[in-house]
Amino acid sequence: MPMSSTATSKLSVLIVGCGQIAGGYDADHDDALVRTHAKALTRHGGFRLAACVDPDAERRGGFRRRWGVAEDFAGLDAVAERRFDLACLCSPPEFHAAQLDTLLAMDVGMVFCEKPLTAAIAESRRLVAAYAAKGRPLAVNYLRRWDPAVAELAAEIAAGHWGGLLSAEGLYTKGIFANGSHLIDLAHCLLGPLAPRGVTRVVADYLPHDPTLEGWLHTATGAPLYLRAGDCRRFTVFELDLLFEAGRVSFTESGFTIRRRRVVPDARFDGYRVLEAGESRPTGLGTAMLDAVGNLHRHHLAGEPLASTGVTALAAHDICAALMGMADDRRTQ
Ligand SMILES: NC(=O)c1ccc[n+]([C@@H]2O[C@H](COP(=O)([O-])OP(=O)(O)OC[C@H]3O[C@@H](n4cnc5c(N)ncnc54)[C@H](O)[C@@H]3O)[C@@H](O)[C@H]2O)c1
Repeated sequence: MPMSSTATSKLSVLIVGCGQIAGGYDADHDDALVRTHAKALTRHGGFRLAACVDPDAERRGGFRRRWGVAEDFAGLDAVAERRFDLACLCSPPEFHAAQLDTLLAMDVGMVFCEKPLTAAIAESRRLVAAYAAKGRPLAVNYLRRWDPAVAELAAEIAAGHWGGLLSAEGLYTKGIFANGSHLIDLAHCLLGPLAPRGVTRVVADYLPHDPTLEGWLHTATGAPLYLRAGDCRRFTVFELDLLFEAGRVSFTESGFTIRRRRVVPDARFDGYRVLEAGESRPTGLGTAMLDAVGNLHRHHLAGEPLASTGVTALAAHDICAALMGMADDRRTQ
């Protein structure tokens, strides 16, 4: 709900963790792509970077200078008595739970947390409930939910334009929690609730506690979503392929492109129906973080619903934790 700021003043922002997603990925790029919180907040124009926190003095100093942040601090304790309209939580996942607790106790209007929400499902559950109980808005950066191309496809699917889902396949690398959660969240957003059914292979391409899992899930109608693993030590990949009764929709290039192919009569063989060639089009992923902070700004001033929340992120985290449990069962058999 609207807090102290008015429509004419810029919202004050605290950035916690001054690494790549906070601003590093954009440090040397003044292009149209918006890869980071700092660039999104700066480009939007409705925010003021009031303070940043990072234990690494060099990191936070460089970040402060690059993005024109007013003040920098070594830890959250130093700003515990201050008020901010927004806090962006961009530290490593193992610090999220404790810092979400600290931010909840502070006078902070809303929190924009990096994924994964926390490093432990029990902590994610506890914190989502605590934020809800306090009425504190919590957004989570599953950024594809802010991509207009994703919202457009979700509306088409919900309206029945593609018919029922026959099957789906998601291809990813670099951990079920780190990146698989993006895939599960995107599938949730487009296909609705998923139920994990099994894990068939464990690929140790990332952190020991966050392998890339192959397996399958079911939608509410019983259609399967197969998870397929690449290997991030070779290359990064993120794709989602959806096969419907009326066609096929594929997100490729990490979701930067979408290809729609409708079912058409076969020009070569009478009586058959096939998929048209279709063409790949750019999505809005390249500026989804700008859409995200725009959504947060309007949420603060006018109560616009947040597209990606603690609740939606928790649903993805729950699925990833269940798949990880199945993988552990496989390894101990
Ligand atoms: N949404 C996305 O697509 C996306 C992409 C990349 C990273 N991420 C997420 O962003 C988060 C950060 O990832 P990154 O790639 O920027 O990592 P990074 O290592 O580049 O940056 C993390 C920063 O946090 C600082 N830090 C460490 N401990 C801290 C603490 N206790 N308090 C404050 N800062 C602390 C580090 O010094 C470092 O500067 C992770 O949760 C990661 O999963 C999300």
